[in-house]
Amino acid sequence: MSDIDLLDLPLVLLSNRGPVSFDRDASGRTVNRGAGGLVSALSGLAEHLDDAVWVCGAATPEDAAVAGENDGGAILVQTQPTPHVVEGQPDGPSIRVRLVVTDPDAYADFYSVWSNPILWFIQHGLYGRSLAPVLTRAEHDAFENGYAAVNRAYADAVADEVRSRGGKALVLLQDYHFYLVAEHVREQCPDVVLTHFVHIPWPGPDEWRVLPGNIRERLLRGLLGSDVVGFHTRRYARNFVLCAGELLGLPINLDDLTVTVNDRVVSARYYPISVDPAALDATLASEDVAAHMAMLRYVFLDEDRQLVLRVDRTDPSKNVVRGFLAFGTLLDQHPELVGRVSFLALLQPSRTDVPEYADYIALIGAVVAEINAKHTKEGRQPIDLRMVEDFALAVAAYSICDVLMVNAIADGMNLVAKEVAVVNRRGGVLALSEMAGSHEELGEFAVTLHPFDVQQMADALYTALTMPMEERHRRLAAAAEQVRTHDVRRWLNDQLADLRHLAGFS
Ligand code: ADP
Ligand code: G6P
Repeated sequence: MSDIDLLDLPLVLLSNRGPVSFDRDASGRTVNRGAGGLVSALSGLAEHLDDAVWVCGAATPEDAAVAGENDGGAILVQTQPTPHVVEGQPDGPSIRVRLVVTDPDAYADFYSVWSNPILWFIQHGLYGRSLAPVLTRAEHDAFENGYAAVNRAYADAVADEVRSRGGKALVLLQDYHFYLVAEHVREQCPDVVLTHFVHIPWPGPDEWRVLPGNIRERLLRGLLGSDVVGFHTRRYARNFVLCAGELLGLPINLDDLTVTVNDRVVSARYYPISVDPAALDATLASEDVAAHMAMLRYVFLDEDRQLVLRVDRTDPSKNVVRGFLAFGTLLDQHPELVGRVSFLALLQPSRTDVPEYADYIALIGAVVAEINAKHTKEGRQPIDLRMVEDFALAVAAYSICDVLMVNAIADGMNLVAKEVAVVNRRGGVLALSEMAGSHEELGEFAVTLHPFDVQQMADALYTALTMPMEERHRRLAAAAEQVRTHDVRRWLNDQLADLRHLAGFS
């Protein structure tokens, strides 16, 4: 990618979820795209970075088998048109991937005990709400044997990749799974340039006080091994600096958002992540999407009917249940809409080994059944709930929906809103939570949702569904313009431009 200047350094990228994951069915080995916004955003970039390796977790037994066949080294995966491992020269976009295999028990403690039900929940305001005991002996042990041990293993893999590139590299660490990695990598490779990008909200010091002092201090000190810690919004970056000041007692500067650690200055910065509009345009133009679009139009949009859409992982932070309750309230209060408005929900089952996530799927099913039982008219159910992961179907639905509902309790960015802004062709209205990072950029063009206020969300849906067409198109065009001029390439380039200055390259 010629317009990305990587400071003349090789690039090592780390995230837990990788761009591809392998499985096995009757036909043999299959390759799938990794879940979530981080992968959606970074895959398109990584495909164009030549001297780059993406270190990530072996998420399935087949991933571990692939890693074993390659002695733990990196493999080259061609991502388009059909993902596959290439032996020689790829003839399409490709990514060099190193799959890290860790002990399954340690990984379970890392992923299903610490990363998701503790760190993700704290950072999305969901932690400790029930009366269940938290941080028992088992969780303390899981921190050492799981989170800390897996962080060390990934840090070793990153350091190995850096050393094999001469000991100097640009290392881009991603997300809440790896708060301890920067410090370990810096110890082993002092010449690296290190950034850690946190893709989820960063709350203030009081929210972090739910963790014992020794653990929260280790997490913060680990992150401060970076040169730059990146977030999506200024509020999250400021909260991080406040945490370093209040919880670690380090000197901070809230004007330029820096923390002084011994003789180093660590900068907190904010860069709103985004999408790749050209790639989305290409997907929208594909035959797959066209076929889905025709089907969706036939099922949902005949006779002037309207379609509300949501596309999410089944994550409690996405607030799916309250979203359906708001839709149910809308139908209760506006019976004229029954039979005229459908709600299509494409939900990708997520983190199902974590009990809170499995319970949430059951809750979603129950609330949908209740609303459908109440409001089915002439055989037409108001909510069509599909538990699928299908990006072509999602893009088809993005392009033809009348309203997109994003009502997250908290969301670092939310790329679904940006994807819809780019591909919608129907004057679709973004109904967007004020707690999603994307609300900072797109809120003025959206109908704002308050995620805890079911009545307010029902009213906002009504406003969106009855908005004059001209107004709908005007808002959508402005949102699309904002996203197209602030795309994922800009997200990376802005970081690199700052790094050039902050890490003393200019
Ligand atoms: P998160 O990263 O928390 O999952 P985002 O909204 O930032 O949330 O990103 C989600 C990404 O995953 C988007 O690219 C979206 O299109 C995709 N996605 C979410 N749910 C589905 C689904 N059911 N099928 C296909 N793609 C999905
Ligand atoms: C969010 C997180 C990512 C994560 C993704 C999917 O986007 O920021 O780090 O990969 O959700 O979640 P999963 O647990 O399936 O990797």
